[in-house]
Amino acid sequence: MHNSGCVPQVMPQVAKRWQVIIIFGWVSLCAAMPLLSERDLLIDKENARRTGGNLVLGKYEEAANEKLMRLKEEEVAKAKETGLFPPSMHFFKAKSLIDHSDVFSILKKMPKAGPVSESGQVRPWPKAPERPLLRVGGVLHLHDYAILSVDWLVYNASYMSDCYICFTPLWAVRFKFSRPLPPKDMPPDCSEWVLLETYRKNLDNVAGFDKSLLKNLTLVTDTPEVTYPSQDFIWRRFENGFIAASGLISYAPVFKAYFYQGLLELYEDNVQYIEIRALLPPVYELDGTTHDKFWSMTAYQDTARQFVKDHPDFVGAKMIYSTHRKQNVSQIKEAVRTAMALRTEFQDTVAGFDLVGWEDGGHALWDLKDALTFPQTLGDKLPYYFHAGETNWEGTPADKNLLDALLLNTSRIGHGFALAKHPEARNLAMKMDIPIEICPISNQVLMLVSDLRNHPAAFLMAEGHPIVVASDDPSIFGAKGVSYDFYEMFMGVGGMSADLRTLKQLALNSLEYSSLSPDEKNKARQIWQRKWDQFIAEVTNLTPEMY
Ligand SMILES: *[C@@H]1O[C@H](CO)[C@@H](O)[C@H](O)[C@H]1NC(C)=O
Ligand SMILES: *[C@@H]1O[C@H](CO)[C@@H](O)[C@H](O)[C@H]1NC(C)=O
Ligand SMILES: *[C@@H]1O[C@H](CO)[C@@H](O)[C@H](O)[C@H]1NC(C)=O
Ligand SMILES: *[C@@H]1O[C@H](CO)[C@@H](O)[C@H](O)[C@H]1NC(C)=O
Ligand SMILES: [Zn+2]
Repeated sequence: MHNSGCVPQVMPQVAKRWQVIIIFGWVSLCAAMPLLSERDLLIDKENARRTGGNLVLGKYEEAANEKLMRLKEEEVAKAKETGLFPPSMHFFKAKSLIDHSDVFSILKKMPKAGPVSESGQVRPWPKAPERPLLRVGGVLHLHDYAILSVDWLVYNASYMSDCYICFTPLWAVRFKFSRPLPPKDMPPDCSEWVLLETYRKNLDNVAGFDKSLLKNLTLVTDTPEVTYPSQDFIWRRFENGFIAASGLISYAPVFKAYFYQGLLELYEDNVQYIEIRALLPPVYELDGTTHDKFWSMTAYQDTARQFVKDHPDFVGAKMIYSTHRKQNVSQIKEAVRTAMALRTEFQDTVAGFDLVGWEDGGHALWDLKDALTFPQTLGDKLPYYFHAGETNWEGTPADKNLLDALLLNTSRIGHGFALAKHPEARNLAMKMDIPIEICPISNQVLMLVSDLRNHPAAFLMAEGHPIVVASDDPSIFGAKGVSYDFYEMFMGVGGMSADLRTLKQLALNSLEYSSLSPDEKNKARQIWQRKWDQFIAEVTNLTPEMY
């Protein structure tokens, strides 16, 4: 068909001599034409496949897209000049660049939308406190004790009365609240418990000490390549950070406040809905008594409901009960039993079950199959949200987790970093419509990939595999909310083709692939659409009445 325009015409008015030359010209043009249209066809086909490629933007969205893409291109051009392209750099070094980047900071500086009133009407544009502009919908992959910047833990929680600290020989700290006596139990290798208030009073440099506490709770350093020689090492530091934080967070009054503050930080990053992998460790009181998992889940549910009451345009939070993959089959089976009981008790809040911890260093799903098929033998359906394929080691048991997660009917796959290497698992996931939760900054910090342009999600985006973006453990990576991960996806992983449609598709996916019920999804979509329209209006400097 694309040859039809290429038939040479007889041109009697042209002299023979010229005719030869003209026909010669037609021939060379004819050789190029099919190439050209075939090329266009291929490019169109690829464009249609990639994430968001089938979305059709409205007039104002197109205008917003043009603006966004102009900023993106300018920023990339600048990066090529300076040699500093944030997605190619370690996040610890890139963060300050991102904070000052045109795309990121212009989005943050733009005038903010008004709050949504109880009746759901959009109020006209009052000046609200500044917030980043991206409307990201939901974040479906977060961990319970890493949702809130650690500043709050150090500058607020650790200053509450009755907080004790002890020091381990490996430059780590542990916290515990207690009254009237110091805590009874002593963590292995820790010094005597010291009352923090007294300890700080005797210090010359409290600010420096507090900074060192911040460092205990994150992985952030100026020299990640030197500080973290191996994945094994960084995973130990990573889990150590959790343990240090848990002494503070697991104190009952802090537990609820931490969750509320965490929701607030995510809300201020324009997140409307979250799903959290929760280990539910015992929460304790001043006298050392502890609460069980049902108490913790009640606290989560009540706090989330209170938050929604205070912020009606927030949709809510659901929990995925999780346990450590290092445990043996009988322990995991017990955890599965607990997950089923929690789901029965908290139908609207508990979404399902997952295993956490370093995949290369823990049990593979296949090792645990007797525990994981247990609900099925009872005729019970326990939804799974397995971390799987968070590894660089092809062909190992951890690598096989991807296939096994699918066989166990997982509802989503956490990370799926190795999926690009497994065409059959990829096809199966596509057929089952199982999305992959991509956490670019987490994968980079935990040493799976350095330049995020080479993140395997680039392949998944190119072929339109269902994906969602999440931030995993933002506090430990020195990030906040999920906007930094969106920046990495938009600028780095998605390449130059990622545009507003990509962002819109990712936001929509985060609701579509959530564990919200159909009714809850409808409500969430409506809230999201209103916010999206406001966002487009802000980017294009229009008011909603204008369209
Ligand atoms: C943790 O805090 C202690 C106490 O200030 C400090 O000595 C240690 O260096 C900190 N650890 C890290 C990794 O910064
Ligand atoms: C600590 O956080 C709580 C909110 O959870 C707040 O009411 C309180 O004022 C904060 N205290 C300090 C010292 O920042
Ligand atoms: C599993 O671990 C628990 C706790 O360490 C232990 O009591 C139990 O015997 C182990 N079970 C098996 C089957 O190894
Ligand atoms: C997964 O779902 C399929 C189809 O519904 C079912 O046949 C299979 O038994 C399920 N497997 C598990 C482990 O639940
Ligand atoms: Zn995770």
